[in-house]
Amino acid sequence: MTVRVAPSILSADFANLTESIRTVETADLLHVDVMDGHFVPNITIGQPVVRSLRKATHLPLDVHLMIDNPSLYIEDFAEAGSSIITVHAEVSCHLHRLLNSIRDAGCSPGVALCPATPAVMIEHIIHMVDLVLVMTVNPGFGGQDFIPEMVTKIRQVREMIDRTGREIDLQVDGGINDVTAPIAVQAGANVLVAGSYIFESPDPAERLQRLRAARRV
Ligand code: DX5
Ligand code: ZN
Repeated sequence: MTVRVAPSILSADFANLTESIRTVETADLLHVDVMDGHFVPNITIGQPVVRSLRKATHLPLDVHLMIDNPSLYIEDFAEAGSSIITVHAEVSCHLHRLLNSIRDAGCSPGVALCPATPAVMIEHIIHMVDLVLVMTVNPGFGGQDFIPEMVTKIRQVREMIDRTGREIDLQVDGGINDVTAPIAVQAGANVLVAGSYIFESPDPAERLQRLRAARRV
């Protein structure tokens, strides 16, 4: 399975985003963390930044919404230029409708699971998404340690995906580095999000290549 890498701009220099992005232009996706200070205890960026990023890079924008009431903002993020919009399973009791609205807005729908949320939560909607994001840290901040118990969940989600017979990406996000990437890939992940590991290096492109070399054995 080909491993794809999505650098998270959360760890980039927000005052020099264009320059930071240029260092990772060989990536597969650009991961954009949107936080509202309600669903997670941190505030980051919104649609205006996504709109500007759309003009600054050719990379598909992989928008990770860590916000309450995401249904209010799907149209805006789609119109701003998102390619993938990932919403958290925990925020909506109308996930089916929410995922449909992302597809209807012309984007690829993704669904994310916090560390405490069981894989079974997405059993009845997994066939609707193009991507499942297994959070390997509690969402909200970069630079946290990978939670080893999530390896079991990655395996479970990979089995669920395989049962659908559809091509659905399995993304992991949080604490991904050259030690944890092979563990996640071995368990079934094929899209690796990494923020601090990539952007806190003097050579982000080299870090990106190292992650891409993680193999499922
Ligand atoms: C955390 C975000 C991540 C974050 C990962 O809530 O969803 O995308 O940027 O950062 P690292 O790779 O430093 O753990
Ligand atoms: Zn993220």
